[in-house]
Amino acid sequence: MKKNTNTLCATTARHSDAIQMANPPMYQGSTIIYERMADLAAAHHAYENGQESYTYGRKGTPTSRMLCEALTELEGGHRAYLCPSGLAALSTALLSQLSSGDHVLMVDTVYSPTRDLCEHVLKRLGVSTTYYNPFLGKDIADLIQPNTRVIFLESPGSLTLEIQDVPAITAVAKAHNIVTILDNTWATPLYFKAFEHGVDIVVQAVTKYLGGHSDVLMGAVIANQAAYKSVRNTAHQTGQFAGGMDISLVLRGLRTLPTRLREHERNALQIAQWFETQDAVDYVRHPALPSHPQHALWQRDFLGSTGLFTVAFKPEYSAAQINAMVESYDLFGIGYSWGGFESLALPVHPSHLAHVRSVTPVTQQSMVRYQIGLEGVDDLIADLQAGLSILG
Ligand SMILES: Cc1ncc(COP(=O)(O)O)c(C=O)c1O
Repeated sequence: MKKNTNTLCATTARHSDAIQMANPPMYQGSTIIYERMADLAAAHHAYENGQESYTYGRKGTPTSRMLCEALTELEGGHRAYLCPSGLAALSTALLSQLSSGDHVLMVDTVYSPTRDLCEHVLKRLGVSTTYYNPFLGKDIADLIQPNTRVIFLESPGSLTLEIQDVPAITAVAKAHNIVTILDNTWATPLYFKAFEHGVDIVVQAVTKYLGGHSDVLMGAVIANQAAYKSVRNTAHQTGQFAGGMDISLVLRGLRTLPTRLREHERNALQIAQWFETQDAVDYVRHPALPSHPQHALWQRDFLGSTGLFTVAFKPEYSAAQINAMVESYDLFGIGYSWGGFESLALPVHPSHLAHVRSVTPVTQQSMVRYQIGLEGVDDLIADLQAGLSILG
């Protein structure tokens, strides 16, 4: 039976050995004990042949298997692998496909630690990177080199929320036998069906909406059948894993994911629309607003929007004034990360953006990235309104 997403999140991961609890038991720890060498050897053999079997905590437990299966049910693809952070999942995905002498096409508006990974680890290993404009669709073909192995996408873009034409890019990649990897954290598996749009490997920073409660760091790589084996091998060979307690927290987060996302979406849209009416604001970048430059692409490909968007203030306001406004908020903490229940604000100044963009023009005004949480929207708007008064 094909289940609706709400039902899936509520009923997934319900197996149990003896009795059927609404939530699965938590397996925590390192050691799995066997009485007989033959049984350990059989488990090891099964594992090496790609079957699910348990030999050592780092290589998986029934708890990690349940979350992997739940993520695969939600996202699609063949199988998932868990990593200790979103960034660890990003590095696992990239390292699984790249070798010395290879080339990556990396979207210029990528999450900046992914850029650091290219500039440091991949460069050191002899992998070269070309950053491409997020507005490129099929013309990305012009940037392909004989040694291009991966096209990496992140849509919407980090901080500036550009929407990419994912199907156009994956079609070009398939024609050239190039693997596509997408950071799908903003949309979650619920609001962008990456595998249906031709993506080969999806990365989720589970830390954000899937966990949803700002109490866990985790990442997941979900791959199609062709890519999964190298993802799994690379993850093993580099020691990726997630602990039982953290996995249980994420399984609990999944139960309420659809409901939380609807609330994030509603609150964020209302606040983004309110910002558009404020004199101090130059423009708002929220993909679900008609004013967003790629709104039509978002409407074509996405099933919803989440709680993260950016506001550009008029150029006359200095970085110091924008910082003072953000510091004055009561309900918005200043913080990295996002996707939790709490609202956050993060100033983004041109001096910062200039360091994390190679080919995309950088606006000359200060922006603030808002993560809209689950508080009452009237209280949030009152807080933001009081903040605007600081700008005079
Ligand atoms: C788009 C995106 N991908 C990946 C990550 C990394 O996740 P983590 O903080 O769990 O390493 C982040 C974190 O902010 C992110 O914004």
